[in-house]
Amino acid sequence: MDQGIFEMFAQENNPSTPVTPAYSSAYSIPVVEKIVVISIGGSIILDEKPKTNFIAKLAQTITELNQEGFKTCLVVGGGSTARSYIASAKSLGANNFVLDELGISASRLNAQLLISSLENAFPKVLTEISQIKLVLEKGKIPVLAGLLPGLTTDCIAALCAEFLQADFINMTNVDGVYSANPKEDARARKFPELSYEKLLSLMRIADIKPGQNLVLDIPACLILKRSKIKTMVLDGTDLENFKNAVRGLDFEGTIIRETEKSEEEI
Ligand code: UTP
Repeated sequence: MDQGIFEMFAQENNPSTPVTPAYSSAYSIPVVEKIVVISIGGSIILDEKPKTNFIAKLAQTITELNQEGFKTCLVVGGGSTARSYIASAKSLGANNFVLDELGISASRLNAQLLISSLENAFPKVLTEISQIKLVLEKGKIPVLAGLLPGLTTDCIAALCAEFLQADFINMTNVDGVYSANPKEDARARKFPELSYEKLLSLMRIADIKPGQNLVLDIPACLILKRSKIKTMVLDGTDLENFKNAVRGLDFEGTIIRETEKSEEEI
């Protein structure tokens, strides 16, 4: 546990107050407000370099939503930073664990960059999911990135949503979940709504095709399914559409939730 984070809070409230044990209330704080966990794909905040204009607009949008009363928890992806370091280390002979650790470091670098543009974020990238509630309770925005080799930041975001009993929004570089890769198959159709089972079967089919970049990886889908987390997949570059999704209004994208509809209907 990173005790430093909680020391910051203690000092903020009263410089002379001794630091209370970090775990005292991390699990026990009741979740009373609507919280949304947002997985921010690295590809929407970076091309070859960070997209600073877009990052500033995204930060402004998050601030606006927070002022409206929506609490957000952000999880940032590795994008081109991760891919570049992973490719270099691979050519130098690094093993998969080391490659994943580089991906995690890259995602944390991107997360720290986003924090620098946000008005009300907790100043450090969180490294434990259990720290989120305390940060939210203090009125700050928790920002996380990669945590453990073998996972993805979407999976971390799904775990955060499970922990907080929150909704999950995946801001990605496609505008929803399709029946096939829309960039390769002109017949691919977008699903406005999906069941967890159908999402999983689509991702399983995509996963066996080499070079497929899954909208949501299978471990993330399994977490969403087991805790029936309401999930929205949308084009992360369209911030007006994103705001509609957070506000519970109609939005362009795919919504994944428990549905009474049969597979043929969706
Ligand atoms: P991302 O989750 O960002 O992967 O993590 P991505 O599929 O490239 O997503 P975009 O491009 O951001 O949308 C980058 C890499 O970091 C490692 C993995 O190697 C992953 O491919 N990683 C990330 C982990 O090993 N564990 C984590 O918890 C997160």
